[in-house]
Amino acid sequence: MTTGPARRAVVTGAAGFIGSHLCERLLADGWRVTGVDCFTEYYPREDKLSNLTALSQSPGFDLLERDLLGDGWQAALSGTDVVFHLAAQAGVRDSFGRSFQNYADNNLLATQRVFEAAGAADTPRVVWASSSSVYGDAETHPCREASTATLPRSPYGVTKRACEDLARVYRSPDLAITGLRYFTVYGPRQRPDMAMRRICDALAFGGTFQLYGDGSQSRDFTYVADAVDATVRCADADPLAPIYNIGGGEEATMAQVIATLESLAHARLRLDRRPSQRGDVRRTSADVTLARRDLGWSPAVSLSEGLAAQLAWVRSGEAPREASA
Ligand SMILES: NC(=O)c1ccc[n+]([C@@H]2O[C@H](COP(=O)([O-])OP(=O)(O)OC[C@H]3O[C@@H](n4cnc5c(N)ncnc54)[C@H](O)[C@@H]3O)[C@@H](O)[C@H]2O)c1
Repeated sequence: MTTGPARRAVVTGAAGFIGSHLCERLLADGWRVTGVDCFTEYYPREDKLSNLTALSQSPGFDLLERDLLGDGWQAALSGTDVVFHLAAQAGVRDSFGRSFQNYADNNLLATQRVFEAAGAADTPRVVWASSSSVYGDAETHPCREASTATLPRSPYGVTKRACEDLARVYRSPDLAITGLRYFTVYGPRQRPDMAMRRICDALAFGGTFQLYGDGSQSRDFTYVADAVDATVRCADADPLAPIYNIGGGEEATMAQVIATLESLAHARLRLDRRPSQRGDVRRTSADVTLARRDLGWSPAVSLSEGLAAQLAWVRSGEAPREASA
């Protein structure tokens, strides 16, 4: 049996939470992967180096430490089949105030540069990370791509919504672009600012978890391998819609997540209750009919299985230790 040359992917944000998992999956599927990441200071470089542990031993993987706002990465797009653009400044609460500059730069400007570079390099397809944050506090649930209004409640959500407009501008018969509205992704390597990670850290090592709001706010949680599976399926899907909701399908409140993790950890979480924060929404829930139809995708990991995997990762010591609040 003859096999053709490996397909080539560029993954931006390769040292991050979802990006590092995506690179590992692509390599397992036989792709050659060039990762681009500039190790922004949003969370420690050590965490991102740890995310890259397995990748750095893989002959099919190269890392370019470059800022998408600068130069020296565009040549990597030559001969690339798909650019997976995941690099961004994530996080809702920090997007207010002076740090909005980071969001405007690393989301809006960086995404425009990726679309420009993909066009210049004749890359046929870009798959990029949008967010459920574009919906804000939706009036009806579950949210649907075409019919639910996008009214972001945070500057972060505004940047992702603006990137969706940019994608529409750059899409052409020669450049397919699809954006994935990920709904709260969790699992091993989750960013240290995210709630489930902070809960796992506090349960595993002691410390207090700052709970914003009364715990009744709910999210449609998505296990990272499921988010990655949907992302990879976009490499070949035809037809390919401009936007897909990617949600795990098991909506839960923060109180339910805490109770599940307490039961898995056989420990009580110490709570520091705080008022809900600017930009936080009450509820997210995804209608994934479109992703099921076009991508043949459906989430496979239940919330309790996924939380057990994340807690096990934190307890294993592989997870870099953050100071618990
Ligand atoms: N984690 C979630 O629940 C979630 C939900 C919705 C959308 N998203 C989106 O998915 C993507 C990945 O999120 P994540 O949670 O893995 O975040 P992450 O912060 O772990 O990863 C993002 C990576 O991008 C890199 N980066 C940022 N700006 C860059 C630039 N200008 N040049 C090069 N590299 C740069 C960072 O150094 C980081 O390693 C982001 O676009 C995020 O907005 C994530």
